[in-house]
Amino acid sequence: CGIVGIVGREAVAGQVIEALRRLEYRGYDSAGIATLEQGRLERRRAEGKLSNLQLKLVQSPLSGAIGIGHTRWATHGRPNETNAHPHATERLAVVHNGIIENFRELKAELQAAGARFETETDTEVVAQLVSHLMGQGLGPVAAVEAALPRLRGAFALGFLFAGEEDFLIGARHGAPLAIGFGQGETYLGSDALALAPFTDEITYLDEGDWAILTRDGAEVRDIAGNVVARPRQKIVSQAFLVDKGNHRHFMVKEIHEQPEVVGRTLAHYVDMANGRIALPEALPFDFARLSRLSITACGTAFYAGLVAKYWFETIARLPVEIDVASETRYREPPLERDGLTLVISQSGETADTLASLRYAKAQGQHSLAVVNVPTSTIARESSVVMPTLAGPEIGVASTKAFSCQLTVLLCLAIAAGRARGTIDAARERALVDALITVPGLMAESVKLEPEVEVLSREIAKARDVLYLGRGTSYPLALEGALKLKEISYIHAEGYAAGELKHGPIALIDESVPVIVIAPHDAIFEKTVSNMQEVAARGGRIVLIGDAKGAADHGLDTLATLTMPDVDPVVAPIVYAVPVQLLAYHTAVFMGKDVDQPRNLAKSVTVE
Ligand code: G6P
Repeated sequence: CGIVGIVGREAVAGQVIEALRRLEYRGYDSAGIATLEQGRLERRRAEGKLSNLQLKLVQSPLSGAIGIGHTRWATHGRPNETNAHPHATERLAVVHNGIIENFRELKAELQAAGARFETETDTEVVAQLVSHLMGQGLGPVAAVEAALPRLRGAFALGFLFAGEEDFLIGARHGAPLAIGFGQGETYLGSDALALAPFTDEITYLDEGDWAILTRDGAEVRDIAGNVVARPRQKIVSQAFLVDKGNHRHFMVKEIHEQPEVVGRTLAHYVDMANGRIALPEALPFDFARLSRLSITACGTAFYAGLVAKYWFETIARLPVEIDVASETRYREPPLERDGLTLVISQSGETADTLASLRYAKAQGQHSLAVVNVPTSTIARESSVVMPTLAGPEIGVASTKAFSCQLTVLLCLAIAAGRARGTIDAARERALVDALITVPGLMAESVKLEPEVEVLSREIAKARDVLYLGRGTSYPLALEGALKLKEISYIHAEGYAAGELKHGPIALIDESVPVIVIAPHDAIFEKTVSNMQEVAARGGRIVLIGDAKGAADHGLDTLATLTMPDVDPVVAPIVYAVPVQLLAYHTAVFMGKDVDQPRNLAKSVTVE
């Protein structure tokens, strides 16, 4: 989704549309705008492309000099006009990007206080909450200040108030937001790119910041309400489609973007109001009739598939066979006619993955592709595409595409479970509730960055690093080792924790850091035994776990990264964050080219 806001000098509708156009690359299927017309809030919203919204503006123009606009990816249900942003009450209009986790709870509370809702969106809850607070006598700024701490999740917001011709409010909590400064005009946008036609003077809001924009500039406040100074910067290249924002590298920008893009992806697959999965496409096969699922992919996408194997087998009781695509394609595996092959690829162009897809099709299989580039060859050649909405991924080492792949795969496993009758509605709701917490938990996890940075200096000294995990943490251990070796060139191996004693234990001494990924789940105790085996041999343990686990294991560690409490089902998505950050900071500390590591390519179209 994209957010735009303008406090301008003359009619702003045209500029709002222009800025929204520059956010089109993020994908959307409805759009809307709100302005103040003689102090009154007026909205125009339309399904489909921006041209439909423009048509509405031609039929009934808006002339206000202050406004907000939005492009929306359909969450659940239809991308119709009612669900399009801005959402409004008589007092204010709001545009929103991301997910408000606790919207059901807030909605019930507001309904009990007499609020009447028009939609089932989480966004409308924000409009109603602020409106309710204003009804109790708070001014707009105080109402937003009081409302923000009540919202859980990862999101960005833009507010416009009836009768307030000279201010907008923007808030950032897990999804990016930038302020642009013009001549007697001030702008709000999801990224600098949206604002590039108007200004090259940009301030990026920090996590937790919110800002009051007027024609003369902006006042930024932090999460505690203190007025803070955030640097203004010049954006250099307006032509470049994606910019690095405040970040040093694309990779770290993409790691930080995960709460937003995972939220966007989730919204595409989850009917939040009803707590169920709603796949965006009809399936040309029936999960209930499958006797097996074959998954194939390369690199990081393969590890996402390996996590999915655990999910499909436990949630949907569907046996999964998985192999790297370079093996699948020549192994000539027998594949049942009308069975299903699932391919996973960020680029959608990986030669081996494509060849495996073609092989499966030739065997008479249905094909389902989880891809990030919707126009790619793999997307075009598959019978059905389930997109990851990670946006363009520039860093060669995949990060946000991985977490979005996991998100889509878990949604698919839940859909399969429902179709196969292995989960009931209550279990589905519980799984969906767990999924909805993911963007917020990822935003929490990003806050471990300073600790990770300190730890990375130790890791940078190592020649070999071991990653251990059990269950879904095992593929994440493999991914952690891959990330580290890809960009820091330190030799790293991922192992199933229980397999340690069958080989890698021979490597362990004081010089080999052992990174253990272990949320406090049902098999945590087993992993602790493996940690003991490491400790007994002088190995230096880094635990990536939660507070409960950290308190329980009773071992000396080199470091413990304490993660927020996570439902074990979604742990691999959330735990991807520290794993990625550790690889990133180690490589940066060592002075490596993290965005373009030697010998590696982003899109591998050769065998
Ligand atoms: C390359 C990239 C990896 C990626 C793999 C598969 O090796 O460097 O980051 O995981 O290809 O790419 P795909 O586009 O199919 O996900």
